[in-house]
Amino acid sequence: MELFSAWLERARGVEPDDVTAMALATADLKGRPSVRMVLLKRADERGFVFYTHSTSPKGLDLAANPRAALCFHWAKSEQQVRIEGPVVTVADAEADDYFATRPRLSQIGAWASGQSQPMRGRFELERAVVQAGLEFGAGPVLRPPNWHGYRVVPERIEFWQQRPFRHHDRRVFVREGATWRAEWLFP
Ligand SMILES: Cc1cc2nc3c(=O)[nH]c(=O)nc-3n(C[C@H](O)[C@H](O)[C@H](O)COP(=O)(O)O)c2cc1C
Repeated sequence: MELFSAWLERARGVEPDDVTAMALATADLKGRPSVRMVLLKRADERGFVFYTHSTSPKGLDLAANPRAALCFHWAKSEQQVRIEGPVVTVADAEADDYFATRPRLSQIGAWASGQSQPMRGRFELERAVVQAGLEFGAGPVLRPPNWHGYRVVPERIEFWQQRPFRHHDRRVFVREGATWRAEWLFP
């Protein structure tokens, strides 16, 4: 995690885009994979956290098959980090605390969005946003019951550093109980 934090901080200094964007791969019970971008909201010794609707396709995948893979690519740093492991739901109190930090319109958007459900047009989203805004009035917007944090608990982390002539460095850490085994891979 120290190495990950160091790479993330380095990327923050050089990347023009959001360095917390990561590809999240999930699979359903039939093994059909799907992948999409999400934002890393917390990384510590417990794992890598993102937030989403539990009723979305990725949420349903994770309910049926609670494992995921993450991939960061920082192009200017010429670095990639891959993470794999089981996924657990973030505690309600932690998710509530994070939700409370979000801009009010994002909070309302979480209520208004039936994420990945078909809609007839943009007006349907806009109407749902207005309705949710009216329901909360001037009061606080609470976290929707289907909006959760997910923590990918790393079992394997690979750090890839581009080198000239494709002589790249690949350093892998594999969790073995309470410790980590480190190894190098051919590029
Ligand atoms: C850079 C980027 C960051 C995103 N971050 C999130 C996120 O943190 N949570 C989320 O639910 N969707 C996020 N999205 C949208 C997802 O990629 C995806 O479209 C949506 O969650 C529906 O995915 P699903 O149908 O596979 O469940 C992001 C998209 C992009 C391009």
